[in-house]
Amino acid sequence: MINEKNYLYKVSAAGRVNLIGEHIDYCGGKVMPAALSLRNTVYVRPNGTDRINLSWTDIPIRITLEIGRLDRYRDVKYANYPAGSALMWQRAGHTVSGCDLLYDCSIPFGSGLSSSAAIEVSTIAALAVLAGERLDPVEIALVAQRAEHEYAGVNCGIMDQYASACGKKDHAILLDCKTLACEYVPILLGDYTLVVANCNKPHNLVESKYNERRAETERALALLRTRADISCLADLTPDAFERVSRGLSWRGADEQRARHVVYECDRVRLAADAMKGGDVKALGELLNASHASLRDLYEVTGAELDALAEAAQAHPACVGSRMTGAGFGGCTVSIVHKDGLEDFKREVSRVYFEKIGYAPSFYHCSVEDGIVVVEL
Ligand code: GLA
Repeated sequence: MINEKNYLYKVSAAGRVNLIGEHIDYCGGKVMPAALSLRNTVYVRPNGTDRINLSWTDIPIRITLEIGRLDRYRDVKYANYPAGSALMWQRAGHTVSGCDLLYDCSIPFGSGLSSSAAIEVSTIAALAVLAGERLDPVEIALVAQRAEHEYAGVNCGIMDQYASACGKKDHAILLDCKTLACEYVPILLGDYTLVVANCNKPHNLVESKYNERRAETERALALLRTRADISCLADLTPDAFERVSRGLSWRGADEQRARHVVYECDRVRLAADAMKGGDVKALGELLNASHASLRDLYEVTGAELDALAEAAQAHPACVGSRMTGAGFGGCTVSIVHKDGLEDFKREVSRVYFEKIGYAPSFYHCSVEDGIVVVEL
C-alpha cells in the first residue's frame, strides 16, 4: 500500500498503443497512437539532499542517484531510465533537485506498450512539477526521446514519448512526425472496441533489430535522394516511389523496407479518413494490410505475433488486427465487436495456444490522457 500522504505529487504518464503507422515515425511519417490507462506513476517529494532516491512498489530495491553524476547509471537495471531522463532534463537547462521518487508501473515490461517512454516522461514531469515549472508536454517528450537515444542507446522515433506525454482521453493522436503537428481524432468505433493482446513471447530483444531497421531506411533514403528531391521517405507517395525506385542498385532488403514505409504512410492517411467517417470495416482492413506489410516487407513480426494476429483476423467478431509497437514480440491491437468479445478472447487464446504452446494475455484498458499531475 502506498501512503499517498507522504508525497507531494503523483505524476503519471501513459503507455501507448499504436493503431496504425508502424516503423514510420523515424521516416517522417504520420502515426496514429493512443495513450492508455496502463501507465507509470511517480510519487514525488523533496528530500533536501543532492540525491534522488528511487524505489518501486513491486521491486524490493532502492537505488540512490547522485545528481552531480547522473551519467554513471547506464548499466544499472531499473535506475537507467530514471537517471537518463533526469540527466537529459538537467542538460536541457532545467533544475533537478534532491527528491524521493516512488515508481508504480501498470504497463507490463517488454510488452511493446512503451513502459520505458512512460517511465521517462513521468520522471521528467515529476522533476518539473517539483521545481514549480509549468509543464510543456512536447518539450518533455523530446527530452525523453533524447534519454532513449543517448542513455539507453535506442535510436527510436518520437511516437512513444509524444503519445505518453500528449495523449488525450478517447482520442487517437494523428501525429506528423516530420513537423510534430498533431490532430486529435475521436475514437468512435460504435459497437466495436479496441482489444490489446500480448503474445507473451519471452526474451524480446528488440534493440539491435530496431536500430538495424532504422539504418536500412536511412540507406534507402540516401539512394532514393539520388533520384528524387525528398527529405524523408514519407515524402514519397506510392506512385512516386514506384516511379523513382525502379532500376536503382538496392542493397539487401532496403527496397522492401522503403516500400513498407511509403505504403504504410498511405494507409495512415486512409485510416484517419476511415476513423473520421466512422467506417470501422475499412479501418480494420487497413490494420490487416499493415500487419501483412510488417510481416512480409519489414520483417518485424515473428511466429508469435503472426499467430496472434491471424487468430484474431479469423474470428468473426474481429474486423482487423495487427502487431503494434516495435514488433518481434509484444502486443497486437484488434478491433472487435462488443457482442463477440468474450468469445473472441476464448477462441483466439485457444488457437494461439495450439500453435505456440502458451497463452496470450488480454489487457483491460481505455484511452486516457498523457501526463496527469495530482497534488496530494
Ligand atoms: C518503437 C519506437 C517508436 C516507433 C515504433 C515502431 O516503439 O520507440 O519510435 O518507431 O517502435 O513504430
